Amino acid sequence: MDKKTVFSGIQATSNQHLGNYLGAIKNWVEMQKQYDNYFCVVDLHTVTVPQDPDTLRANIREVAGLLFAAGIDEDNSTVFIQSHVKAHSELAWLLNCITPMGWLHRMTQFKEKSEKAKDEVSVGLFDYPVLQAADILLYDTNLVPVGEDQKQHVELCRDIAQRFNYRYGEVFVLPDAYIPPVGGRVMGLSNPDKKMSKSEEKKDDSIFLLDAPDQIRAKIKKATTDSHREIKFDEKRSGVNNLLTIYQLVTEKTRDQIEDHFAGKSYKDLKEQLAEAVIETLEPLQQRYRELTGEKGYLEAMLNRGAKRAEARAETKLRQVYEKIGLR
Ligand code: AMP
Ligand code: TRP
Repeated sequence: MDKKTVFSGIQATSNQHLGNYLGAIKNWVEMQKQYDNYFCVVDLHTVTVPQDPDTLRANIREVAGLLFAAGIDEDNSTVFIQSHVKAHSELAWLLNCITPMGWLHRMTQFKEKSEKAKDEVSVGLFDYPVLQAADILLYDTNLVPVGEDQKQHVELCRDIAQRFNYRYGEVFVLPDAYIPPVGGRVMGLSNPDKKMSKSEEKKDDSIFLLDAPDQIRAKIKKATTDSHREIKFDEKRSGVNNLLTIYQLVTEKTRDQIEDHFAGKSYKDLKEQLAEAVIETLEPLQQRYRELTGEKGYLEAMLNRGAKRAEARAETKLRQVYEKIGLR
């Protein structure tokens, strides 16, 4: 009964990649038994940049399917679509009214994304972290398991919660980010100095969770290495270090075991064995994904149950907030 609460979100975009899996989803699956969990496909965050409606609909379904396929289960976790629970938008508005614009101007992800979007920067993109704070605060969340890039957003969420509590009395629990010790920032294969991402132009940079085995082999084969020979973990050798880190995460071996194993072997060996280990990790996930999205209505039924459960909890919190502010 007194399990701590975990909340995390994932955008409704195609091309979920190994970084999303190793930095976030895999940890959600492994942690779920210890906590009371809410995992949310954040479709309202996704529309902060332009989306084609049919593609968006398909992507929402794809991402939700991948979460279940990765091993998140209804007995331990509530999985739902953000826009199905209206409390998220409502609380975001109320938090908007106490969040200084200056706090949002400091968000590095906004700076990066708005540079890319140039003349299409919406108010929603600027406000993105406030909606994220609403997601987290509605569930009295203790822990937010995310990749390193989300740390600043979780800290902002704490600041917003503190400001609200100071002004209106204790309502919100202050959450902590959980960044995995390894895997919080998986790097690109061809450009290992940048994090692995979804972008379409750099397809060879990322391994997507639904890539076929041959695509995985081909991408890893092309991955950037260096002119050294020794296969060792060394952050200064970003390409090889990233391949070894991915190997560590998918095989769950220790760094020492891995270095011993590859002693005297070539980069070709490393790449071949890494590809097979990644395929071995992703194949069962892909198989389950095909099964549960193949059966009509199965996924939708799980998501409806998830939304009902989430709504019950979120509405209780939202009512408290309205009362504190003087709107009820
Ligand atoms: P997104 O798909 O952007 O909603 O991200 C979903 C989760 O994956 C978040 O917790 C991110 O921090 C995490 N994530 C995204 N890219 C990476 C990466 N390259 N390495 C580790 N974690 C990542
Ligand atoms: N901003 C997160 C990302 O891009 C997704 C997200 C939305 C989230 N709401 C959240 C993550 C709440 C953790 C908690 O990855």
